[in-house]
Amino acid sequence: MLRPIDRVDYTMRQMARVGWYLGHYFASQRFREAPAPEAETEQETSRRSGPGLARILEAMGALFARDLANADRGLYPPPRDHDGNLATLIRRSRRYFADLPVAAERKSQGRGTEVYSPELAEDLPAYFLQNFHFQTGGYLTEESAELYDMQVEVLFSGTANAMRRQCLVPIAEYMSGKDQRKLNLLDVACGTGRFVRFVKQAFPRLAVTASDLSAAYLEEARAHLKPYRGIDYKVAKAESLPFADGSFDIVTSIYLFHEVPPPVRREIAREFARVLKPGGLLVFMDSLQTGDTPEFDAMLESFPANFHEPFYRSYLGENLRRIFTEAGLQVIDTEPVFLSKRVVAIKH
Ligand SMILES: C[S@@+](CC[C@H](N)C(=O)[O-])C[C@H]1O[C@@H](n2cnc3c(N)ncnc32)[C@H](O)[C@@H]1O
Repeated sequence: MLRPIDRVDYTMRQMARVGWYLGHYFASQRFREAPAPEAETEQETSRRSGPGLARILEAMGALFARDLANADRGLYPPPRDHDGNLATLIRRSRRYFADLPVAAERKSQGRGTEVYSPELAEDLPAYFLQNFHFQTGGYLTEESAELYDMQVEVLFSGTANAMRRQCLVPIAEYMSGKDQRKLNLLDVACGTGRFVRFVKQAFPRLAVTASDLSAAYLEEARAHLKPYRGIDYKVAKAESLPFADGSFDIVTSIYLFHEVPPPVRREIAREFARVLKPGGLLVFMDSLQTGDTPEFDAMLESFPANFHEPFYRSYLGENLRRIFTEAGLQVIDTEPVFLSKRVVAIKH
């Protein structure tokens, strides 16, 4: 059970975070807005404009209440977000605003593959060599890795971590009554390691492998996770994981599928199934899909118009249940989590 002081602390921190990131979102709006179509019906306007700020704030409140309730049930410790001290926040904010006009210029010129080069393409897949979100450096540089979490939290108005933490719930349920020292977890496409940190806080003795195709992002993850022991780091392509069959009890993957082409999603799902032990658990999270929460559909549709996300539209209609089932996994739960969707599956 959380103490009243924990609740107050959580509420104050989340309000401050939302204020900070939502403020950045509004301040950066002029670099983002697509020009309005010249003529559209009232119905089209309302569809394009989505559910409105009040409804979004209400849905955010429900997410935070859920986060707090999970901690109250003892599924994970009182949530903390580890954004760094004030100096770090200000430095990142400055860098964020310095990069905005550069990214806007890239967007206006349609330069979404600036980071591509034939030399890099010898080692990395072409689909990966893109300036996702129009961000400078794509996934290839230290600077991009340092800015990534700020950019994601601005996009989600400070809710990205709370959404990721919902992936701890099925893990806690799976681990209940088991000795965590005898289990292991692989996070595929761990990015800068935010979710791995939540895993280590909740299950400090669980052996964790953090893997990502970006060496720069994995280095940022290593720095972020410095206080924690029992983590292996591996630069790895999700569609050909360098691990033996049946080597993990738990596989997690967050916000990967919308950034890879459809055939690669199927290859990755097969790799999830291959590296899991029989009876092992997959916890997957990515964007909501069309129809999951119909009032948010317009927001989802407008996302790739504003951010370079070449595979997002195909992701919106993807049948995740079928992909995982065909890979040899049994989907036991799918659930919307604000703007994300969590899928839980078991290896047969
Ligand atoms: C949107 S980020 C998500 C990162 C992190 N999981 C999170 O919660 O923020 C996508 C990540 O997938 C990685 N990635 C993209 N394609 C990959 C692939 N084929 N194999 C492994 N990692 C990949 C990128 O380097 C990046 O770190």
